[in-house]
Amino acid sequence: MTDLKKHFAVIGNPIHHSLSPQIHAAFAKETGLDIDYEAVLSPLDQFKNTIHTLITQKFTGANVTLPFKKEAYQLATTHSSHARISEAVNTLEFKEDEIIGHNTDGIGLVRDLEQNLDTHLKNKKILLIGAGGAAEGVIYSMLEKKPSELTLTNRTIEKSNVIQNKMDVHAKSFDVNLNVTEIAKCPHQYFDVIINATSASLINAELHMDPKVFHKGSLAYDMMYGKETSYIREARSQGSKTSDGLGMLVEQAAEAFFIWHHIQPTTRSVIESLRSH
Ligand code: ATR
Repeated sequence: MTDLKKHFAVIGNPIHHSLSPQIHAAFAKETGLDIDYEAVLSPLDQFKNTIHTLITQKFTGANVTLPFKKEAYQLATTHSSHARISEAVNTLEFKEDEIIGHNTDGIGLVRDLEQNLDTHLKNKKILLIGAGGAAEGVIYSMLEKKPSELTLTNRTIEKSNVIQNKMDVHAKSFDVNLNVTEIAKCPHQYFDVIINATSASLINAELHMDPKVFHKGSLAYDMMYGKETSYIREARSQGSKTSDGLGMLVEQAAEAFFIWHHIQPTTRSVIESLRSH
């Protein structure tokens, strides 16, 4: 590559569904940057080679999506604090002699909640459902906002316990009560924000959570986007406000864009445009 245009990619498997090229093209247009951003399908056992090919081709950076966020963390030679704490990377910067790994998922979720959905987390009670990579990737960013309580609930309680042990020191430093409960025994107490970070929606599976956990006035958020999930339907039928994760997707992309270009793009029009399609 000999041109001066900067090149970026999103790497995943599968990747054809990715909206990231569209989102970054919209940011580039709005901010007047001339960049190239493409979707790259990496074979499951070839992530490292895929990255090294991009580096050889003088790419400036890449986003990383499922299932490579842990591998990207291992490949990065330097980590931002969010990447280090979540042990997952969704944004890479390729510098001369280092690969910097960032994680913008948590920032994306928090910005969508606070700026787009006007749901501030300080002193609020949050229920986070799931204990996989998606859940772990956003916990620290939520703790930073100092909710009064963050309850982790999962089908397999042992996995929530592992996260609690890891995050307890941060929860204490932000003065947040960090609790753990099994999904089937989730308390009916009032939560201001209930976030589905499980992969159940992806496979159309039920969460088997007591619907009484949803209340009028609370916000039920599903990190999944693109279709209405049974989680969202259930929450709405109980009177909760609801949101899918499209805003989080755009906000995490905006933070990656800022890391690469040092320009904060406008997100609202991009979210609206994607939603209308
Ligand atoms: P991801 O990286 O998307 O988070 P993951 O690491 O495989 O994927 O984690 C998937 C999460 O969704 C887990 O919390 C999983 O619960 P278990 O730890 O009990 O496996 C949760 N999950 C997936 N399908 C589910 C279902 N049908 N009901 C409840 N939880 C489910």
